[in-house]
Amino acid sequence: MKYNHIIQGRFLERPNRFIAKVETGGSVETVHVKNTGRCKELLAKGARVYLEKSDNPGRTTAYDLVAVEKGKRMVNMDSQAPNKAVGEWLLERELFPGLVSVHPETSYGNSRFDFYVETSSEKIFIEVKGVTLEEDGVVRFPDAPSDRAVKHVEELIRAKKDGYRVFVLFVVQMEGVRYFSPNYGTHREFAETLCRAKEAGVEILAYDCMVTADSMRINRPVPVKFTEDYELLSRIPIPLLQWYDKNRRILPWREDASPYRVWVSEIMLQQTRVEAVKPYFEKFMKAFPDIGSLAGAEEETLLKLWEGLGYYNRVRNLQKAAIQIQEEYGGKMPSEYEELLKLKGIGSYTAGAVASIACGRAVPAVDGNVLRVLSRVRGDPRQISDPKVKAAVERELGEVIPIGRPGDFNQAMMEIGACVCIPNGAPQCAGCPLQEICRAHRAGEEQSYPQKAAKRKRIVEEKTVLVVRDENRTAIRKRAEKGLLAGMYELPSMEGFCTAEEVAAYLAGNGLKPLRIQPLQEAKHIFTHREWHMKGYLVRVDELEPRKAEGQSADWIYVEPRDTEGKYPIPSAFSAYRKYVSSRPV
Ligand code: ADE
Ligand code: SF4
Repeated sequence: MKYNHIIQGRFLERPNRFIAKVETGGSVETVHVKNTGRCKELLAKGARVYLEKSDNPGRTTAYDLVAVEKGKRMVNMDSQAPNKAVGEWLLERELFPGLVSVHPETSYGNSRFDFYVETSSEKIFIEVKGVTLEEDGVVRFPDAPSDRAVKHVEELIRAKKDGYRVFVLFVVQMEGVRYFSPNYGTHREFAETLCRAKEAGVEILAYDCMVTADSMRINRPVPVKFTEDYELLSRIPIPLLQWYDKNRRILPWREDASPYRVWVSEIMLQQTRVEAVKPYFEKFMKAFPDIGSLAGAEEETLLKLWEGLGYYNRVRNLQKAAIQIQEEYGGKMPSEYEELLKLKGIGSYTAGAVASIACGRAVPAVDGNVLRVLSRVRGDPRQISDPKVKAAVERELGEVIPIGRPGDFNQAMMEIGACVCIPNGAPQCAGCPLQEICRAHRAGEEQSYPQKAAKRKRIVEEKTVLVVRDENRTAIRKRAEKGLLAGMYELPSMEGFCTAEEVAAYLAGNGLKPLRIQPLQEAKHIFTHREWHMKGYLVRVDELEPRKAEGQSADWIYVEPRDTEGKYPIPSAFSAYRKYVSSRPV
């Protein structure tokens, strides 16, 4: 768009929103300000401004203020200019192939949108918002709270649901800015509504403009950053990667990061420390060097290799996913995040880790470590145990992942969480590459983050574990196929803490006659939502016979000690008592 009669002047003052005093050609002119926003940082005393002569001779003000120089930048501040420029741009450029018509100002529901566009295949609404607020190359909208803007965006979400293609187009009325962001500081509700619109499929774009004293044209796309903390988050990658290059641990799955190896290691690492995982990983890779061998593995062999890592469903799912990969992906692990998510046992964290570390995709991998570090760096009060917060953090972190080194970035975040910004005890801020930017550290409140949800109490179960043996064998049984430790073998047990007499009575009921009942130490095992408090007895019987004596529990199996190391793995919840299975009877 072009202005016809432009003159220069110097801004003096702005007595109210609608007018300004401008010195021009030696006299002081009262001019109309077309942008009723505050524009405080634009209209500084003495700033060079550009005025357009009004076509309307009957007006009290003869000029409109249309542009201002801010430092080296020319900023257009005519609130009608963005719509005019977009109107021209839609007709001039091939933005929408098969364009049929462009209608300005079209009603929809209770709103009017700036453009309604039809192409041969689509019906499109476009809402245009002019942006003049700039600081350090970052442009934001709105510059003052605007309930009208919120309402507009809500109507746009409705139009999207009704089947239209919908755009919010932020027209940045200047050139050469770094990025656009909704203004959480002036109007949080608008920013949040805009994020909702994006999730609902509304397309949110920003373009800068070529601005001269007498013209404005839409120029180039500007990145849109939705995260409130984008500026802070964007300062993480450089120091973090520098630190990682010097301090990273050498780990077997890091040095040879094939998708399969990364996948298996990440599943193992989900509930277990790196040092503890290492030997398991090596043994597992020897036994199952590829997806095919994992898919064809015997379940018992698999469980045996997992014994001690706990959470056995992880390894069952690992195998199910391996079978899925064999059947649906021709035996090759997919590289795309969305495809990985379809595999059994792979959630957003694992999908992100495999896609970024092994396949170079710029996607986040947010685990508890990463959530903790970010909560502290941002001084973020949200509860990280809330899945919605995790999803939001994934989206937010996704905006700053360096596309050249996504896998290193994600692993560096985990590494900081595991080695520096540790969960229990004081974080080691002195050695942390993020200390300069970390809000919790600056406030000396590292340990106040992440803020904790009221803890759900674990159910406590008391039980009496029996190691029942004869000369050669020990009694075990198989757990139910569903629930805690599903399908695992275990030592028989009784509910509650029982006396030796109660144990004798119980065994007699099972057709067994104890020669000796010897108490063992007490033990505790903590699961996620459950604690077992255990008493134990070593029971020597004359003979464990395979016969089904009257009343004898049918589900007991009598096994040789070495079989519990191979064929019948017993979970580590029983580790306090496992040793009595293989020691010589006393
Ligand atoms: N914890 C889980 N996965 C990890 C990885 N790849 N690097 C460091 N720590 C981790
Ligand atoms: Fe954690 Fe301290 Fe680093 Fe902040 S400065 S991220 S609290 S270790």
